[in-house]
Amino acid sequence: QWGSDVLFINGGYLNVTIPSCVKSGQYLFRAEAISLSSATQYPGAQFFTSCAQIEVTGGGDAEPDTVSFPGAYTPTDPGIVTNIYTVQEYTVPGQS
Ligand SMILES: *[C@@H]1O[C@H](CO)[C@@H](O)[C@H](O)[C@H]1NC(C)=O
Repeated sequence: QWGSDVLFINGGYLNVTIPSCVKSGQYLFRAEAISLSSATQYPGAQFFTSCAQIEVTGGGDAEPDTVSFPGAYTPTDPGIVTNIYTVQEYTVPGQS
């Protein structure tokens, strides 16, 4: 099941839980949907991004992994170029 299916079923919403171990502080939270219907070659994937500034309070000791944009993805990352009509497993970009 693709993430877009879950979003559709839930009327465009997806709840996420910030792990309680995450250190307190300011974070830029980035949610992204990637349309892969034309992603069989580069550039084809379409990125739909939303961001929210969040403040974590009462957190733990864990420093979450972070990324910078531009730079977090490259055209050759898995999941940027893919054929959703034949792929058996999909690797989300930016997870390395
Ligand atoms: C998200 O969480 C809120 C609060 O618990 C709940 O009312 C809502 O139904 C949840 N939405 C989804 C899509 O799970």
